[in-house]
Amino acid sequence: MAGLPYIVGNWKMNGTRAMLNEARAIDRAAARFPKVQVGIAPPATLIHRMRESVDLIGIGGQDCHVEENGAYTGDLSAPMLKDAGADFTIVGHSERREYHAENDAHVNAKAQAALSSGLAVILCVGETEAQRDAGDAEGIVTAQLEGSCPIVDGAPEKLSVAYEPVWAIGTGRVPSVEDVAAMHKAIRAKLVAIYGDAGADVRILYGGSVKAENAAELLAVPEVGGALVGGASLTAESFLAIVGAAVSLVD
Ligand code: PGA
Repeated sequence: MAGLPYIVGNWKMNGTRAMLNEARAIDRAAARFPKVQVGIAPPATLIHRMRESVDLIGIGGQDCHVEENGAYTGDLSAPMLKDAGADFTIVGHSERREYHAENDAHVNAKAQAALSSGLAVILCVGETEAQRDAGDAEGIVTAQLEGSCPIVDGAPEKLSVAYEPVWAIGTGRVPSVEDVAAMHKAIRAKLVAIYGDAGADVRILYGGSVKAENAAELLAVPEVGGALVGGASLTAESFLAIVGAAVSLVD
């Protein structure tokens, strides 16, 4: 695996103050794992408190608006996430694409807004089951990258891409190692086409039903630079088992 593996928990719409104990436990353990980069994207309501509760792990938003402020009831901007203590934000998660009708142009603008505000970005792409069954998976994902990758000055070092097949999210199903390898190779080629040589350094995470039992196998796939973890990131115990799998690959 090139570079430090990046293991990120996406808490989605889960978590009140009581869950900060899990973040603290993850943060304490992270001190023992300096060769793995760890982040958590809690609900935005917890970003500020989490910032005050942890020292080592990164903290992220799960989305951001394209504008810095304005009449957008219920939305949060990238500078607001940054001000609350976030280091990064996820954009383009399939749950945002599906339930909030976000398309590649929106995701592109959000990624751009986040980077302009100094946040790192995890940009999610992934095909549906019907698209995979139709043999279109790589075409869909590379088209998503084409439409949603932000224009950056110089190297896109604050950008990571997360490949998350929609049908693998929260289902317990994961693609075969061969399919993950093929998709990550296609994503790498597209990133190099978009960013030139700098595209070779963009981290590509795998997400979708990652858990302790399959993490080592998935993280060992060429071009898999980490994992975006939903359900299994909600307790320190299950999340740290995944971090531990990453540690064993780099030690
Ligand atoms: P899951 O979610 O690990 O619960 O499948 C992953 C994600 O949506 O990022």
